[in-house]
This record gives sequence, structure tokens and C-alpha cells, in this order.
Amino acid sequence: MTSRVALVTGGTGGIGTAICRRLALTGHRVATNYRNEEKARAWQEKLRADGIEVALAAGDVSSDADAEAMVREVERQLGPVDILVNNAGITRDTTFHKMTSQQWREVITTNLDSCFNVTRPVIEGMRARKWGRIIQIASINGQKGQYGQANYAAAKAGMHGFTISLAQENAKFGITVNTVSPGYIGTDMVMAVPEDVRAKIVAQIPTGRLGEPDEIAYAVAFFIPDEAGWITGANLSANGGQYMGW
Ligand code: CAA
Repeated sequence: MTSRVALVTGGTGGIGTAICRRLALTGHRVATNYRNEEKARAWQEKLRADGIEVALAAGDVSSDADAEAMVREVERQLGPVDILVNNAGITRDTTFHKMTSQQWREVITTNLDSCFNVTRPVIEGMRARKWGRIIQIASINGQKGQYGQANYAAAKAGMHGFTISLAQENAKFGITVNTVSPGYIGTDMVMAVPEDVRAKIVAQIPTGRLGEPDEIAYAVAFFIPDEAGWITGANLSANGGQYMGW
């Protein structure tokens, strides 16, 4: 297998950590961004104790200037980015009639504008080198909608619209662009949902449990090898059977 340079945004989070681990363990050179240096260094040390090295670059993905600087820093440390996983994301759950413009904007800029901000500085290099993998981490809730998540569902559905357009524009350049849509995974984000609400959600999952972060990392890794080169514009659901729309 060829060792590539992978940038995973939001790599220090629940799903992001699993993606960084899996890509590093499959021989890739992995980097992620951070906003809080102290927390990121502690996270890096923890992975290092397991023999996993992940490079760090400062930057808030909701800022285009930060994202560009972050990509250049990753290139300086590891070389040109071959694999980009747009994973960084937040929630600001509330019903729409109570939603503030700030709650709307924070989610759209962090989850969706970030895809433009981080992909734009890597795309030309991928096209010139005729190889690339771009993977958006969207959500089951971008596919089916979710009570309390008009902002999040709009951003996540938008991410797949981004995927299928980029997939068409870049197919001739050896670049595949795909989406992974996780269901409810046992991360801090899902644990922040009130327990009674969460219990009702788990009851709707045919597997009868929340997903594991590595079950999403596995879906991401699926798109990377050369053998996956004909799979582009796909939306891979990994949700324990909770939503089977197509
Ligand atoms: N469908 C229909 N009605 C619903 C509902 C649903 N799914 N959820 C709540 N309601 C109803 C309640 O029954 C209640 O009705 P009554 O007033 O008649 O009793 C009413 O809506 C208000 O509910 P709450 O008291 O819960 O209202 P709230 O304002 O305190 O909270 C909420 C609303 C923030 C949306 C809260 O219900 C919530 O957190 N829901 C979970 C949202 C969710 O799934 N977020 C996912 C986070 S994880 C993630 O995003 C990762 C991923 O990609 C999967």
C-alpha cells in the first residue's frame, strides 16, 4: 500500500480520533487541526503512547484564512495532502422557532463553509498530481432530518451536495469525492443529548446500540485504496440500520 498524507479536520474529537488512528495504522502520515493547543498536545501524547504519530496544525476550519494556513503547515510538516477528511463539526440543537441566527451561523460555518475553506487549498495540488481522496463526514440527520436540528441537517445535507458536484468535476483527475453518513455514535456529541431523548433514539436503531467511532473510521478507510478509484459521489450510510433511504 502507498503511504499517503492525510488531513483529518476535527481529528481530536470522538470520530476524528478513530479516523486518525485507523489511517495511521494503515500506514498513512496523518495530520489534524486544533484550536486549543494545550488540549491538542495532550491528545497527541496519548496517541504517541500507543505508537501513533499525528501531526498538528493550528486553525479554525470556519475561517478561510486559518484553513489555508493550516493546510500550508501540514504540507510543510508532512508534504502535499493526498487525502482530506472533512470531519470537523458541531451541534447547536434547538427547535427552529427558538433558533438564533448565531446558532444557525455557527453550525453552517463550522460544518459546511469549512468544506470550502479546507478543500479549496488542497484541490489544485490533487488535480496536478492526478490522485486524491476527499471524504465528507455528514450525518444520518442530513438524510432524514431531525427534530431540533434544522441548522445541522441543512449543513450535513449540503455537505453531500458538495460531494456530488466535486465528484463530477474531479473524476478525470484521479480524485474521488465521497460522503460517509454516520448514525448515532457513542461520542461526547451524542452523549450531550438528554438521556431520555437518547434512549428513545437508541430504541429506533435496529442493531439496538450506538455505533463505535471505529465503525465510522472503517467506512472512511474503505474509500482510500486504489481499488476504490471507481467509487465516487457515493454516500455511505453507517447507522446501524436506523435509516435505509437511498
Ligand atoms: N418528534 C416529535 N416530537 C418531538 C421530538 C421528535 N423527535 N422530540 C421532541 N419532541 C417534542 C416533545 O415530545 C415535546 O412535546 P410536548 O411539549 O408536547 O411535550 C416538545 O417536542 C418539546 O421537546 P423538549 O422538551 O425536548 O424541547 P426542548 O426545547 O427542551 O429540546 C431538543 C428540544 C433540543 C430538540 C431536544 O429534544 C433534543 O436535544 N433532541 C435531540 C436532537 C438530536 O437528536 N440531536 C442529535 C445530536 S448528535 C448528532 O447530531 C450526531 C449525528 O450526526 C447523529
